[in-house]
Amino acid sequence: MIINVALDGPSGAGKSTIAKALARRLGYVYVDTGAMYRAIGLYVTRAGVPTDSKEEVVPLLENITVELEYVDGVQRVLLNGEDVSDQIRTPEISMAASNVSAIPEVRTFLLELQRSIARKNSIIMDGRDIGTVILPNADVKVFMTASPEERAKRRYEELIAKGQDVNYDDILRDINQRDYNDSHRAAAPLKKADDAYELDTTGMSIDEVVDSIEKLIDKRLRADFKVIPAWRRFTYGIIRFIASIPFYLIFNIKYEGTENIPKTGSVILAGNHQTWFDPILIAIKVKYISSYMAKAELFKFPPLGLLIRMVHGFPTRRSSNDVSSLTRAEEFIRKGYNLTIFPEGTRSKDGKIGRAKSGVALVASRCGVPVYPVGISFKRKLHFRSTITVRFGEPLSPEELKISSMSKTDLRAAGERIMSRIAELVHNG
Ligand code: DC
Repeated sequence: MIINVALDGPSGAGKSTIAKALARRLGYVYVDTGAMYRAIGLYVTRAGVPTDSKEEVVPLLENITVELEYVDGVQRVLLNGEDVSDQIRTPEISMAASNVSAIPEVRTFLLELQRSIARKNSIIMDGRDIGTVILPNADVKVFMTASPEERAKRRYEELIAKGQDVNYDDILRDINQRDYNDSHRAAAPLKKADDAYELDTTGMSIDEVVDSIEKLIDKRLRADFKVIPAWRRFTYGIIRFIASIPFYLIFNIKYEGTENIPKTGSVILAGNHQTWFDPILIAIKVKYISSYMAKAELFKFPPLGLLIRMVHGFPTRRSSNDVSSLTRAEEFIRKGYNLTIFPEGTRSKDGKIGRAKSGVALVASRCGVPVYPVGISFKRKLHFRSTITVRFGEPLSPEELKISSMSKTDLRAAGERIMSRIAELVHNG
């Protein structure tokens, strides 16, 4: 399921720091809309045109393309193909961005780009008008504020840390000026959406703010889980508990990277596959209900088939590209279930990591959900009390997987990225 989080608020409220941290935790894409206005502000400044002159700025728009790219999960801003991520962070360009953002044509110019990113990915989008204009139907809306003095102090420290020569009083004056501009302009002024949650972050640490927004998102997602009947969740919890007992008795199971265990449903867990009980090893730690792709042959023995279906397993034929099983996978994800999948499609006999089939990337891109890699390692031959390490890795967002086009090449590349993340978790000690 695609989740859109709108994070609005005045300049320097710490939105980008918070949005980045949250996106990382949840495997969502962070979209910094301010950077898009800054890129336009930079273009206009370079052209030597006054940034508040609508008549002169509007004709320039047809020469401008703004794109966001993600390199190792970090957003880069491209202005006509040039990476301007650093140039747009000066006080001069901040003011230019504020000026151009008051021009309605500039806002319309960026609107479709912002909406299209949100349609394709689970995102945290920060800006001024995200909850009110760009994504009025966002799943979660937060309006973040802090006193002007606190915001000026944060900006000052940030710029000093970057080695810029700045003065606190100038920054405070700029912030007051930008607040005034941003909230008094006619076009999409800075305003809290009626249904947004207001969060005053004065005196709060970054972690405190991230935690409190994460709770809001969790609450919203839990509302979706209502579609999974309570008796199912209850039965699943019991099965999970009972199933874990023999494994804890027989093996010495260690879990690592537990901070990366998904805290929501509707995500994909992808692991390496060596034993028939890999799905159980993963499920022991993940409390949200998962569905599973299981090879069709297992369903030929009816009692086993019934058992697998009881834990939301569904058949997939390994030899062909099994469209119906991909459709089932999507149905489960859209209903709030996770999907646990072993992208290699078959068990590895020698512990080596194989190549991914296209299924995992296809489902991730169709549903726009993150993929959580899991590495399961143990020394060859398993015996009584063998140590098995199950390591959870940081999620890969659909944007990081670059699978928006769904071409064969993209899907293959995404599959390879997933497998290499899994491999890092397996061999990492
Ligand atoms: O968030 P920021 O400081 O990078 O934003 C730069 C300017 O862009 C800010 O003064 C207001 C404007 N802006 C806007 O009008 N609407 C947005 N969605 C984001 C930014």
